[in-house]
Amino acid sequence: MIVSESSETACPVVVLISGNGSNLQALIDSRFGAEPAIDIRAVISNKPDAYGLERAANAGIPGIAVNHRDYPDRTAFEATLIEQIDALEPRLVILAGFMRILTDDFVTHYAGRLINIHPSLLPLYPGLHTHAKAIEHGDREAGATVHFVTQEVDGGPVVIQVRVPVLDGDTPDTLAARVLKQEHVIYPRAVRWYAENRLRIDGNSVLLDGGQSPLQELVSHES
Ligand code: GRF
Repeated sequence: MIVSESSETACPVVVLISGNGSNLQALIDSRFGAEPAIDIRAVISNKPDAYGLERAANAGIPGIAVNHRDYPDRTAFEATLIEQIDALEPRLVILAGFMRILTDDFVTHYAGRLINIHPSLLPLYPGLHTHAKAIEHGDREAGATVHFVTQEVDGGPVVIQVRVPVLDGDTPDTLAARVLKQEHVIYPRAVRWYAENRLRIDGNSVLLDGGQSPLQELVSHES
């Protein structure tokens, strides 16, 4: 069992991105409140031209590019990544559209403090092209999942899910937009729970305030 540590101030986090960074933006925006839950120490991108780095700069948050193409292999890339992350001493490492597969060693290094958002109702559709798959399968609902990262790709303990309807005539793009809007709601919420020490990983389950996490509670019928 892993319990998130207590802290009297905002929880230091590092956000890893590869692209647009709209989830990063939602996390940035979530800091504006009476008591910001998180202190985003830095945003790290494996793509130097990721728009998310601009979002970070606009918010006065340090941006760091660690270009995977500059390294001979995944292990060397991750060694630098770990060095950069650990120097910032985050309690939580947040994957927000970070498009590199992580080695078991990396995942183990951050066990219990590495979190991801995936645009499907896991365990349905791990991997890529989730919206196209949901449409192809004739699903009436799609959604997104926030989960702790374990060695199983897109398979770790689930913190929260949100469901949205799949509408007649949806394309992968229209469905993705509907899901993404809800990602921006659940990711800051899940991160805040972590920051407030309200989450506990118990085997392959996540407990919120000692009870079950509201996996099915958030149903959005907004189109
Ligand atoms: C999101 O759909 C997220 O679920 C997935 O990658 C996408 C990132 O989008 N992991 P953005 O960069 O946050 O806009």
